[in-house]
Amino acid sequence: MKLKITILEGDGVGPEVTREAVRVLRTTAGLHGHQFTFTKQLIGGAAISEAGSPLPRTTLDACLASDAVLLGAVGAPRFDSLPPSARPEAGLLLLRRALGGYANLRPAISYDAIAAASPLRPEIARGANILIVRELLGGLYFGEPRGLTGDNGNSVAVNTMSYSVAEIERVARVAFVAALQRHKRVTSVDKANVLETSQLWRATVTRVAKDYPEVALDHLYVDACAMHLITNPRRFDVLLTENLFGDILSDEAAVITGSLGMLGSATIGGEVGLYEPVHGSAPDIAGRGIANPFGAIASAALLLRYSGGLEREADDLEEAIQFVLNAGYRTPDISADGFGHLATTSEIGELVAEALAEIADVRHAYHAV
Ligand code: NAD
Ligand code: IPM
Ligand code: MN
Repeated sequence: MKLKITILEGDGVGPEVTREAVRVLRTTAGLHGHQFTFTKQLIGGAAISEAGSPLPRTTLDACLASDAVLLGAVGAPRFDSLPPSARPEAGLLLLRRALGGYANLRPAISYDAIAAASPLRPEIARGANILIVRELLGGLYFGEPRGLTGDNGNSVAVNTMSYSVAEIERVARVAFVAALQRHKRVTSVDKANVLETSQLWRATVTRVAKDYPEVALDHLYVDACAMHLITNPRRFDVLLTENLFGDILSDEAAVITGSLGMLGSATIGGEVGLYEPVHGSAPDIAGRGIANPFGAIASAALLLRYSGGLEREADDLEEAIQFVLNAGYRTPDISADGFGHLATTSEIGELVAEALAEIADVRHAYHAV
């Protein structure tokens, strides 16, 4: 298998965690005889500083010409006073739109080994396994009109939440198809008691559900959903929601599993798959070698599965993540119980790569007998 992968490290901890994701992809290629090529391009604050734009044309062209894009994170405090369209984050939003992926899958898995790192009591968090399906190209992020008018003092700012039936239907189908491979439950999250967009969302999801009679559908308002996630995360299987609600609920789901640093994501449905951890550039810990790379590594596993069709390699990488956690290795954000061995970002990457080699050996030995 040949894969052309564009690497967008971005800002803050982005380069630190992405390096480890690339390391485990190289290991995977070596163990299974695949040819992966990696090309680095600029995005976000790093691209503004070096090329004057958060998404330079060369970056966009390289991404569109590749099989998959692996991104770290964008955003840095020195750009925080810029208007939205000039910020590092604008580069990521333009890229998402250009690649066309509308379904952002964010698996939130509560691993037993780090149950103590969850702010929830272990008996509540343990066993939670939620696939968040976040709509990624609609809603308030992209709706028109938008903008800020008037002078300081009497300014007015406008953002528009807008959804069409087609936009809702295509992402709903992704959620129902995913549920068929899991526990066959979809919870659709909206604010249909207040918003017309949510009423259309709920009606459309309910209609689409009829095509998937094996899947049980329920609906929650987003405020109640935030509560149910905290009180009983195990009640969820697939959680389907619009762009902004999904952004917020996925940070909440992440921390329930132990840390925001644990979650990876895959954006599918477009020309080119985009893979990125759920967390941001974490400027408060950047440059110290302590960032949690598991979210970036989990994104690499999703890349193998969705852009490479390499199901076995993806499974092995997910198993390697668990192996390293079970062996007790922790970055500081998941070492709340004081148990285990504190490891740096790159040590975690090395350990996952070693675990991959062991898993491949065991498989080899098993097939030899
Ligand atoms: P953040 O996700 O960067 O950080 C929130 C908290 O989680 C911080 O305390 C941070 O130290 C911690 N954290 C995040 N990732 C971690 C990791 N891998 N290991 C250990 N701890 C980790 O969110 P923020 O502070 O609100 O935003 C910082 C910048 O990142 C902003 O500019 C924001 O716009 C940007 N951002 C980018 C993305 C992205 O590129 N996909 C996502 C979210 C936020
Ligand atoms: C995420 C981030 C992005 C989003 C920002 C950086 C544009 O928070 O991927 O969750 O809001 O989608
Ligand atoms: Mn977010």
